Amino acid sequence: MSQPKRHIITSALPYANGPLHIGHIAGAYLPADIYVRYLRLRGKDVLYVCGSDEHGAAITIQARKENTTPQEIVDKYHELNKKTFERFGMSFDIYHRTSSPLHHETAAEFFTTLNDKGVFERISSEQFYDQEFNQFLADRYVTGTCPKCGHDRAYGDQCEKCGSSLNPTDLINPISTLSGKPPVLKETSHWYLPMQKEEEWMKEWINTGKLEGKTHHDPSKWKKPVLGQCKSWLDGGLQSRAMTRDLDWGVKVPLENAEGKVLYVWLDAPIGYISATKQWALDNKANWEEWWKDENCELVHFIGKDNIVFHCIIFPIILKLHGGYNLPVNVPANEFLNLEGDKISTSRNHAVWLHEYLDDFSGKEDVLRYVLTSIAPEMKDSEFTWDDFQARNNNELVAIFGNFVNRALVLTGKYFDGKVPSGGKENAEDKAILEQCKAIPEKVGRAIEGFRFREALTEAMQLARIGNKYLADNEPWKVFKTDPDRVAQVMHTSLQIAAALAVVMKPFLPNTANQLATMLNLPATAWDKAGTMALLESGHTLGTTTLLFEKIEDEAMQAQKDKLNKNKPQKSNVMAAKAEIVFDDFTKVDIRTATILEAEKVPETDKLLKLKVDTGLDQRTVVSGIAEHYKAEEIIGKKVLILVNLAPRKLRGIMSQGMILMAEDADGKLCFVSPSEEVVNGSTVS
Ligand code: 2FM
Ligand code: ZN
Repeated sequence: MSQPKRHIITSALPYANGPLHIGHIAGAYLPADIYVRYLRLRGKDVLYVCGSDEHGAAITIQARKENTTPQEIVDKYHELNKKTFERFGMSFDIYHRTSSPLHHETAAEFFTTLNDKGVFERISSEQFYDQEFNQFLADRYVTGTCPKCGHDRAYGDQCEKCGSSLNPTDLINPISTLSGKPPVLKETSHWYLPMQKEEEWMKEWINTGKLEGKTHHDPSKWKKPVLGQCKSWLDGGLQSRAMTRDLDWGVKVPLENAEGKVLYVWLDAPIGYISATKQWALDNKANWEEWWKDENCELVHFIGKDNIVFHCIIFPIILKLHGGYNLPVNVPANEFLNLEGDKISTSRNHAVWLHEYLDDFSGKEDVLRYVLTSIAPEMKDSEFTWDDFQARNNNELVAIFGNFVNRALVLTGKYFDGKVPSGGKENAEDKAILEQCKAIPEKVGRAIEGFRFREALTEAMQLARIGNKYLADNEPWKVFKTDPDRVAQVMHTSLQIAAALAVVMKPFLPNTANQLATMLNLPATAWDKAGTMALLESGHTLGTTTLLFEKIEDEAMQAQKDKLNKNKPQKSNVMAAKAEIVFDDFTKVDIRTATILEAEKVPETDKLLKLKVDTGLDQRTVVSGIAEHYKAEEIIGKKVLILVNLAPRKLRGIMSQGMILMAEDADGKLCFVSPSEEVVNGSTVS
């Protein structure tokens, strides 16, 4: 499609089971928002939809954790995330939710249509079941060891370490997250999507971009890691996948005799993009089908890499089997963002939460947009650190962008009464610079259209870099007295660059761009005009100058680092647990209370004391390695525990009969373990 009439853009629906963090933003939201804002500036007809994913085990497990109902969980986090996105400036046309009746209706219609077409297979199989909770254990309700990489906390649907997609029954040593016990297998039946039947066209669509013999999209425009994941799935062969679950939370299977069964969350969630569009259309008296069924509309999904197969393979299969819907022309998935040398982790609270950032750095939304775009994990995982955040703010936004704009406006105020001085006397340097600048908006646009947002922002920043260097080289503050005409030209050129910046930065830094436009008194300008380098007429009156950015001090960064460190578990020196034993193993051990009667150092040793101990059974000699911790004389009369049935062994020529039990920490410090109250010697310990 060379010139689509419309663009529908989606960002992954975040689970409403927790707050948003910077990894979410860098992955699926900020790039989409930049893309959407750019398309709008190009005058395109764009619809940007998102919303909360409110079903699946992710929600019910969180409800159990917070000791509340799934409905309360989704209500709470939907509101929080919607508000957070608004505060951050995400320009969704609608932020919908999958718990809405319209979504349930839409998802049920998909299921019914596919079922009526005979698409599904009904398959009975044995699934994990928790006998204590009388519940089947879908997906995340089971954890265990990943059969692919050995990670010992893989989920039933996915291993977060190696990214493998799993079935609960693939896990080694599975454990129910409800009871903490190994589940049993129990027969149940589900509706399966036989994806293997769709393999042929799917391979052609992914590999060549052709759909039913016609060119649908250009696969060379897809990111290599995205194509790589799709191809590896297809090479492994598609299989039947269950589209329903035994759960009481979700979209009910719209058939008789299907009590206790709901749609698989990955069937219903992407349909959420469609129901969101329907709701938007109702609110705006528009036709939703123009956005999903008209071939003049382009669909692009922005997601993180863990969502690739669902958006590139499973959802397209569902859309095609339903019939009448467009498939995505691109799915520019991002890799993951790490934080301060570690993976972002919600459970370990190793994250920068967006709502907290917005509280702590009010008015600095664009700084985060700038940093996250500069380090976006576009082709491989990348890393956010607070030091880098500070450096990019202080050395780039403040020292280059802010400095340039401030000088241009303040000097114009000082020398030309806040009016754009006339140009027209460009020297060779001015002309070269203007030519360079004229090319930038197009370069930025091309990079955005290719989903290369880092490159696009670097290009846009070139305007500020060129402008800043131009002013520093020309030093108008030194020249004004001797050559005011030259200064007029320099300021004229600088202001044109600043005006171009106000347009080109709009997709990336919308607040800053607006502030700059106000300072320049620049009317709304379409993207195509940015490259003219003639956005401000001579004599045009500028607005009031304000500071675009401010320096971020070390203290603010330290506070953020402290916050992260506070959440880190203290380095544990506790030794790893030993292998499991059965009770019978334990009963072989005979531990008794005893009293130390005599103690003396074993000659020529540092560690050994020879003890005479009353065990209640007898009085015996025990050699104990505690001399570095206790003096012989201070332990006489001490009540202790002794392992009495340990086979005797000779130590330094002394036959030792048993072992005194000591507690030992990881640093090797020893102390006696004694009964907490007076008991007779020989009392058993069990
Ligand atoms: O991975 C996730 O957070 C999912 N909630 C994304 C769903 S995207 C779409 F299918 F709704
Ligand atoms: Zn794994």
